[in-house]
Amino acid sequence: MYNPADQNTSMDTACVHAGEEKLEARFGLNTPVVTSSAFDYTDGEVRYPRYHNSLNHQVVAAKIAQLEGAESGLVTASGMGAISAIFMALMKPGDHAVLLDGLYGGTTDLIEGLLIPSGFRFSIWDGDPDHLASLITPHTRLVMVESPTNPLMQVVDLEHTAAVAREHDIVSVIDNTFATPVVQRPIEHGFDLVVHSGTKYLGGHSDLLCGTLTGNRALIERLHPMVVRLGSSLNGQDLYLLERSLKTLALRVRQQSANALELAQRLEAHDSIDEVLYPGLPDHPGHAIAVKQMNGFGGMLSFRLGEKRDPTQLLEVLELIRPAISLGGVETTISQPSRSSHAKLSETERQRLGIDDRLFRLSTGIEGIEDLWHDLRNGLA
Ligand SMILES: Cc1ncc(COP(=O)(O)O)c(C=O)c1O
Repeated sequence: MYNPADQNTSMDTACVHAGEEKLEARFGLNTPVVTSSAFDYTDGEVRYPRYHNSLNHQVVAAKIAQLEGAESGLVTASGMGAISAIFMALMKPGDHAVLLDGLYGGTTDLIEGLLIPSGFRFSIWDGDPDHLASLITPHTRLVMVESPTNPLMQVVDLEHTAAVAREHDIVSVIDNTFATPVVQRPIEHGFDLVVHSGTKYLGGHSDLLCGTLTGNRALIERLHPMVVRLGSSLNGQDLYLLERSLKTLALRVRQQSANALELAQRLEAHDSIDEVLYPGLPDHPGHAIAVKQMNGFGGMLSFRLGEKRDPTQLLEVLELIRPAISLGGVETTISQPSRSSHAKLSETERQRLGIDDRLFRLSTGIEGIEDLWHDLRNGLA
């Protein structure tokens, strides 16, 4: 059976087999989809889909836990369903958390729209390892990061972050959506809790809304009642779709990472491009840390058009690569963060972050590299 400590080749086996239940032959090889929302309770067991206790929950949670090298997991109805459960379960009003600057906009919206008005307190961390400890107070319960970040692809030193959190007895949380467990397994670097928008790479076909939480058993047991309370459990049909998608996760992400690296190198050499942000490039400021903690560099990259290029035209000229706000699918998509994910920020805030109209984010798919390059080169011509 797959052992999370094994070489990376075993990740492929885990994608296919981890979590699977050997069922009676008449059910075949695939997990049957439990569609019922009503169950007989007279055997003493209380079964109900929101309680996250169907066969499909069990199988998918075990699979994603094994992929992340975690003891236990939960599968939620969206990434935000998982992220909400973290704050609501691990903090109460008056408590404090440290957040990496520039977390996903939905996470920031949850914090500003619900948690701060309810008395939760937060500090923003600039990602400098030397600054983290000074932000932790006796009321701090958790630190939350993303790595690489969206859309600037900054890399956080996971081992150092987890060590500081452990020293201060607070929970370290990472949103691992951009990397996936194929590329980065934060639990191996000391993180306590890994959250995903499964809507992205885990689902991988741009047709599924879901999320996951993985960590040690005690932590997942603290989160479970909140997932149930918030109504965040995923339904049986989508659990099965997620299980099916996860079987090809390693294949997809390896191809996406290879395409991203190749495109990053070609874009960097193109005279219409000012800057390429991809941790796989040796001149990326986080490259050395990325090499240490990532296995490949993932399928996400950003680039900045040169001054002479009109940024309004690029999206109109591309034919194969489609504009889209989400990411992680088998098809390559492009977004202009200033007009999509970061459109709600003020101009000043966007300038502070370095997100202007010339910045584009690519989510590379699994298509042929020459077809992708042909499209991009035409777009840049
Ligand atoms: C990095 C990251 N985390 C979390 C989320 C939220 O996930 P969902 O849309 O599945 O709720 C997203 C969605 O775009 C994301 O990109």
